[in-house]
Amino acid sequence: MPSLSTKPIYTGKAKDIFETEEENTLRAFFRDSATAFNAQKKGEIQNKGKINATISTLLFQLLEEHGIKTHFIKQISENELLIKRVKIIPLEVIVRNITAGSLCKRLGIKEGRVLKSPIVEFSYKDDALGDPLLTRSYIINALEISDEKTLNQISQITLKINEIFKDFFLKVGIKVVDFKLEYGFDKDGDLLLADELSPDNFRFWDAKTNEKLDKDRFRQDLGNVEGAYTEMLKRVKEGLNNKNPQFSILNSQFFIVRVQVLPKKDILDPQGQAVEKALKSLGYNEVKDLKIGKEIVFQINSDSQQHAQEKVKEMCDKLLANPVIEDYTVEIDSSY
Ligand SMILES: Nc1ncnc2c1ncn2[C@@H]1O[C@H](COP(=O)(O)OP(=O)(O)OP(=O)(O)O)[C@@H](O)[C@H]1O
Ligand SMILES: [Mg+2]
Repeated sequence: MPSLSTKPIYTGKAKDIFETEEENTLRAFFRDSATAFNAQKKGEIQNKGKINATISTLLFQLLEEHGIKTHFIKQISENELLIKRVKIIPLEVIVRNITAGSLCKRLGIKEGRVLKSPIVEFSYKDDALGDPLLTRSYIINALEISDEKTLNQISQITLKINEIFKDFFLKVGIKVVDFKLEYGFDKDGDLLLADELSPDNFRFWDAKTNEKLDKDRFRQDLGNVEGAYTEMLKRVKEGLNNKNPQFSILNSQFFIVRVQVLPKKDILDPQGQAVEKALKSLGYNEVKDLKIGKEIVFQINSDSQQHAQEKVKEMCDKLLANPVIEDYTVEIDSSY
């Protein structure tokens, strides 16, 4: 569930984008819905939303550490990121290391050949036209959606991102076959990497077996789609832990917490007494000791269920319950 129930300003094929109280900050809610072949094929991938939100978070943070400017601010729940608002340049910036997908179809070549050198190409972000491949002249002189300087800047940043990802993923046994990026300008005119970084937009193959661990499993009905996405989240965490073993936070996850607070047995509960009396007046004489309390529900980010439990107990003792007159119980569910 989104943390604030406002209407989305944009509902895409995989995410809903909301405004926030801050004009230049947006909230991206990642859904489980999946589409392929320009939305001709539609479906759901269980848990995709939260897996993609988390993979995106970790990969945006990795790029930021390498000096790449991105729209990422923070992950605020399992499915949601806070992002800087940008004016998206309507280009799909694609980088390829190994032949696959539309490149093979277009050129009639086999999938899986390592390219002589990485290719950066641009498609027009326009579903009605089927996202056609563009030349630089089309972009600059026909569509007028970008200029020479920006395209050079985008190509340069994209190739740098490709090197960061190739290196990072190879260490956890993954080949980065190709991926799609989106860029935009923020309110200060800075060019930022936007959108998402997830198996929806990347082709990832296991380096040993060439098993596909991305949306091609959905496109090609290969089965175990959720398993592949989960495996990619695991590999990303593994890569980050190898790099920074001290950051155990990278193993963290969100837990769902339910705290039930009730007045203690001997504490006067006028509301409870009134309801009990009313029930009895309706003939329910079998009712006894009725108490009215409250339930508090939230998510908490923690590296283990036990640590989450300890934190929640602290919160209950300090604020959520009054230990002198109230009893509470805590239920914590992990979602992975
Ligand atoms: N920081 C940002 N500021 C504004 N818009 C953004 C930002 N990051 C991503 N977007 C846009 O939000 C939408 C995300 O939704 P989603 O990925 O579901 O779209 P989509 O169906 O793939 O649509 P599209 O074909 O336009 O990419 C995209 O249109 C994307 O360009
Ligand atoms: Mg998209």
